[in-house]
Amino acid sequence: MPIAESVDRKPTFAPFSTPLQGVLIVFCEEGLKFGPSTRKALGPAGDLVQRAAASERFTGKSGGALDILAPAGLPLTRLVVLGVGKGGRLKDQDFVKLGGAARGKIPSAAGEATIFAELSSGALKPEQVAEVALGSQLRAYVFDRYKTKRKEGEEPPAKTRIKIAVGSVPAAQKAWLRREAVADGVVLARDLINEPANVLYPEEFARRAASLKKVGVAVEVLDVPALKKLGMNSLLGVGQGSAHDSRVVIMRWNGGKKADAPLAFIGKGVCFDTGGISIKPAGGMEDMKGDMAGAACVVGLMHALAARKAKVNAIGAIGIVENMPDGNAQRPGDIVKTMSGQTIEIINTDAEGRLVLADVLHYVNTRHKPQFMIDLATLTGAIIVALGQEYAGMFSNDDRLCDRLTKAGLATMERVWRMPLGPEYDKMIDSKFADMKNTGGRHGGSITAAQLLARFVDKTPWVHLDIAGTALGSPQTDINKSWSSGWGVRLLNQLVQDHYER
Ligand code: BES
Ligand code: MN
Ligand code: ZN
Repeated sequence: MPIAESVDRKPTFAPFSTPLQGVLIVFCEEGLKFGPSTRKALGPAGDLVQRAAASERFTGKSGGALDILAPAGLPLTRLVVLGVGKGGRLKDQDFVKLGGAARGKIPSAAGEATIFAELSSGALKPEQVAEVALGSQLRAYVFDRYKTKRKEGEEPPAKTRIKIAVGSVPAAQKAWLRREAVADGVVLARDLINEPANVLYPEEFARRAASLKKVGVAVEVLDVPALKKLGMNSLLGVGQGSAHDSRVVIMRWNGGKKADAPLAFIGKGVCFDTGGISIKPAGGMEDMKGDMAGAACVVGLMHALAARKAKVNAIGAIGIVENMPDGNAQRPGDIVKTMSGQTIEIINTDAEGRLVLADVLHYVNTRHKPQFMIDLATLTGAIIVALGQEYAGMFSNDDRLCDRLTKAGLATMERVWRMPLGPEYDKMIDSKFADMKNTGGRHGGSITAAQLLARFVDKTPWVHLDIAGTALGSPQTDINKSWSSGWGVRLLNQLVQDHYER
């Protein structure tokens, strides 16, 4: 699996006395305040910085920067002074952004760059350093494996060597080891989402998930005969119009106590969603290669948990299918019997994600008796209308789990906003011919989708995250320039770390 193929080399850490070369990035607080080691490294060039700041009216405000080429008196090609505002106001979650912003100031052709991890109060703490490194790594991500030509003057990304100057090298390295696992998890998720559907069809997705065995995850791949035997007809119905066979992959990481029930993460993995017989309009349909972002997040998370040896038992379960129109495809009006025994009337074959999740949720719940289930799915366009791209929709039967996710969301800036569920909405999916229908009409489309899922989770604490807005076509941020964000990996890693590790 090409982890880290599309990013910088891994950052290294060095003391502040490290010899300088290439690009140097230093942080500066409002009032042109630097840390002691930064002042020392700038040496006589401190005066140059003062004059440049005065002429640019740079004061160290957050978002501002001074870019000085070939600074006299320093062996550098470029010195970047990055404004961070008032240092005391920086919260833990700001350091990942800071790392991203710093990496953004390094030209892509640079071979060598040093980031000074220091504020006026002194060296950053090891955890803060690790966040800076994470932000830098995520910012550098590009998905360009299918580009064979470059425009004139366009240089190939140099895979810059990033050195971070820190107070304690061993402490920074130790903190980074855990963050590195998360960085790789996010990159893995982004890669899977960006990959086109002619390359990443269900079997290939299952193969890539199976390569988590390398980091110690137990992986079980269920093929079509196995799924038939289990009675996952709802999931199989979605895939029956595709030339590619469906799969379910169960990943298991046992880092906790033997007797502890696992946490369960479930992902929608529609490798391509044409809509099926209820076919989608052509405009923008190419984005539906990313309709497996929920499953990609689960794979990225399982990588992160295993690679950092999280002290927890976790299950990742993904339903992987392709939704195609075909002579063999399912029709509106068809009725399928789910693994749970409940029947669903298909009204619209484009409401396929819930059909996939219904069977996987039931399977995980009955087979693995988890402490909770969290599913992630690019489930509805309606959630984008409601929340835009800044918050994922959160639907749940458990207030405590919601609170924890809300907090983890604020800590990682992968934020969630709770949406309602209730019997009045549930009634909207009652069917004339079966136990339920797969759409509830034009009103509250994200809610009726969640109500269908709720019918397959029983009493287990459960959260459904509708990530259609947050996962794809991502707005450009300090830590992501790619179409896919890898949304959810950092959020769920944070949840696990804060509440479930022994
Ligand atoms: N995968 C789509 C939802 C989606 C839309 C994800 C845009 C990302 C961006 C989902 O399978 C779908 O087609 N939902 C329908 C449901 C409708 C038919 C009830 C929708 O949202 O229109
Ligand atoms: Mn669809
Ligand atoms: Zn879909």
